[in-house]
Amino acid sequence: MDNIETNLITLSRHVLHDQTRHSNARGDLTLLLTSIQLGCKFVASQVRRSGLANLTGLAGKTNVQGEDVKKLDVLANDTFINSLKSSGRVSVLVSEENENEIIVDSKGLGTGKYAVVFDPLDGSSNIDAGVSIGTIFGIYHVSDPANASKRDVLKAGKEMVAAGYAMYGSSTTLVLTTGNGVNGYTLDPIKIPERHKIYSVNEGNSLFWDEPTKEYFNSLKFPADGKPYSARYIGSMVADVRRTLLYGGVFAYPADNKSKNGKLRLLYECFPMAMILEQAGGKASTGRDRILDIVPDDIHARSPIVLGSKLDFQCGVAPDMSDK
Ligand code: AHG
Ligand code: MN
Ligand code: MN
Ligand code: MN
Repeated sequence: MDNIETNLITLSRHVLHDQTRHSNARGDLTLLLTSIQLGCKFVASQVRRSGLANLTGLAGKTNVQGEDVKKLDVLANDTFINSLKSSGRVSVLVSEENENEIIVDSKGLGTGKYAVVFDPLDGSSNIDAGVSIGTIFGIYHVSDPANASKRDVLKAGKEMVAAGYAMYGSSTTLVLTTGNGVNGYTLDPIKIPERHKIYSVNEGNSLFWDEPTKEYFNSLKFPADGKPYSARYIGSMVADVRRTLLYGGVFAYPADNKSKNGKLRLLYECFPMAMILEQAGGKASTGRDRILDIVPDDIHARSPIVLGSKLDFQCGVAPDMSDK
């Protein structure tokens, strides 16, 4: 029995402890994170049994971004909306699957001083193949919950008070930052390796890339030292970013001449992942500027993104991808 840990640290205990650094913290963020954790547990169990429970396939509608919505996108979205509202700690919600922001009114379960932006299920195209998918979220402060509006989330990513993701893979993992490093569900501090020769991008779009982007990836594939990078691309941002966080390398979804602003959405894809990457010692940029400095003008605004290991930003020939 000697090696069994009995002083158990849960997510709630960790966050509560973390929050004591802030004098006005009253456990509200802990409660909010508990409601996210509950949503993740339920979605994880539904993902595991999706083939059996007739949860694969399309829901039969398209979302505001023109994507075919899957049944699990709908289920995950409903789960997080209900769970977040029931925490009584949120006044604004923005989801990939809802055209408009949701303003939580003070009747019913009550409101609170946080806004949550989230991608209820990331990697939809991988669901039916049983490949890792996940949930991404970011949390902002709301100064006046009684008058909450979308202005509370149209703020730079660096204003986020917390961000995280859950990945539903062979096991479920929750990764969280409250602006003081990054922790996995085992509560081990996570640091991204300084370099790893992996690049991760949808090369099927390369026909539409501009010259600097083509040159950048070519420089990784045909380097002067004769040691090219390996390619890895899953097509679930959660899974591609998780590999980048743990192994290092570069993940990118650049702009191309079909998608002038890239594909990934600032509030609930780029910002949370950029915050996690920076807190883990990595970098995240648009290819030009720091992602977390952008102020979005729309709740579903998109941005090109490059993120990953510090030293991998300094390689290649893309002059704008580095702040050196
Ligand atoms: P979602 O499933 O939430 O709509 O996100 C899909 C995103 C992201 O997970 C991934 O990085 C990217 O789309 C993959 O896009 P391509 O299929 O164009 O490579
Ligand atoms: Mn989608
Ligand atoms: Mn997504
Ligand atoms: Mn999604």
